[in-house]
Amino acid sequence: MRRAIFPGSFDPLTNGHLDIIRRSAPLFDEMIVAVLNNADKRPMFSVEERCEMIRDVLPSVETDDCNMMVESFSGLTADFARARKATAIVRGIRAVSDYEYELRMALMNRRLEPGIETVFLMAGEEYSYVSSTLMKQVFELGGRVEGLIPSIVEERMRQKKK
Ligand code: PNS
Repeated sequence: MRRAIFPGSFDPLTNGHLDIIRRSAPLFDEMIVAVLNNADKRPMFSVEERCEMIRDVLPSVETDDCNMMVESFSGLTADFARARKATAIVRGIRAVSDYEYELRMALMNRRLEPGIETVFLMAGEEYSYVSSTLMKQVFELGGRVEGLIPSIVEERMRQKKK
């Protein structure tokens, strides 16, 4: 059984994340979308809200026979992956600028857990500039984000703003 985790902050989930989920699903039997409970940051959405939104959106994504789960975690990604008996950590790469940070993380995670490989997938080029941070910024300043984040997420962002 091939189980992977797809870790991230997902604050909030973007269509770029969904693109990575869709692309990686055929490679695994099970995938856990692992939402970091980052207590030191000030996220727009609580970890419970982020998990709930991902659970709401996932049924609309073509994930073949891959069994998708959503869980929150604290601490090290490598520890969470080992605890869940995952053999792979999925990460998306949008552009060369992501590479250095992702390489450092992958090497550190491999040092921590040599039996777990990081699997990189290239995001669709239409999402190469999409990040949660940019989406929040554009939304806060009244810019259009349709097509870049799921409509459920956009609606939740609108409610937050009120
Ligand atoms: O959504 P992001 O910010 O790209 O996700 C980054 C994430 C959550 C994968 C990374 O910050 C992480 O793994 N954090 C957990 C703590 C940890 O394991 N740190 C060492 C990574 S080598």
